[in-house]
Amino acid sequence: MVVKRRQCIQLGAFLALALTGCGKAKTVVPEYVLTYADNQPEDYPTTRGAQRFAELVQQRTGGRVVIQLKFGGELGSEAEVLTQLRMGSIDFARLSLAGMTEELPKLNVLQLPFLFEDAQQMWRVMDSEIGTDFLAEFEQLGLVGLSWYDAGARSFYSAQQPIRSPEDMQGLTVRVQDSRIVMDMVTLLGAQPVTFSYSDVYYAFETKKIDVAENNWPAYQAMKHYKVARYYTVDEHSRIPEAQLASGETWTKLPEEYRQILAECAVESALYERELWIEQEASARETTLSRGCEEIVLTGQQRDAFRTAVQPLYESYCGEYRELVAKIQKR
Ligand code: GCU
Repeated sequence: MVVKRRQCIQLGAFLALALTGCGKAKTVVPEYVLTYADNQPEDYPTTRGAQRFAELVQQRTGGRVVIQLKFGGELGSEAEVLTQLRMGSIDFARLSLAGMTEELPKLNVLQLPFLFEDAQQMWRVMDSEIGTDFLAEFEQLGLVGLSWYDAGARSFYSAQQPIRSPEDMQGLTVRVQDSRIVMDMVTLLGAQPVTFSYSDVYYAFETKKIDVAENNWPAYQAMKHYKVARYYTVDEHSRIPEAQLASGETWTKLPEEYRQILAECAVESALYERELWIEQEASARETTLSRGCEEIVLTGQQRDAFRTAVQPLYESYCGEYRELVAKIQKR
């Protein structure tokens, strides 16, 4: 949407005479007004990271590139945003990988349960050439991978009773993202996977369409899932980084000078988001526990029962990436 916006924005830009210094008026005419989508609420780490991205871009282009952030799913579900991003009607987005694995099967590697031992290992990998190679994957969808955002570890949380073992999950209905590997993970654990979009999970719990969901602490708090599912089992079955992406349609229309600035700002915003993540993870846990939720901490042996049950996914989804998986696990 670059060109059209560029024209219709001129008037707005004149009206928005930026007052700088001691009342001196300076006209800044944005050349590009670009949209950015995130499905998380305003004060969520990824949204605040995107806000930082927009501010840095505005500063470093002297107001010539303006990024308008639309958060809280205003521009649609992640699947809808992905479609618009590919068409160029949305210019940037932060997306989870789940919705892209059908077309980019290599991303299943990052979705493998129990791939990383902890956040440090994940960042050692994602900040290396391996992370850069994964970013290049998005080109196949006509997208530009800019940076990796943190999304912590995903764990199961349940409404009726605490989950301590795969046996506790037998016959339960579990909401997952729309991704075959995650659905199969739940099946291997003896439960029934169903997909709902993120914004519908609360309602699905409320209307008893699901018994269990899985996500990180900040999402558990931000989407108020803790109010309808009070048992949070810290099984940390997956740790999946999220991608900050640009539409290839937009990217090719931008001058090289701006592309460089945008790329740098994206990486800086990701580093900022990662710091915010650590704080938010701790505070979301504290808040939800103080409001009556129960945290189920697993012993090493209990966690291993989950790990063992889902092991077949390594071969069925990532058999052809065996070497890459081994390389990742050695870091
Ligand atoms: C994470 C992610 C969201 C995603 C959600 C989900 O919270 O940040 O972008 O929509 O998981 O489970 O759908």
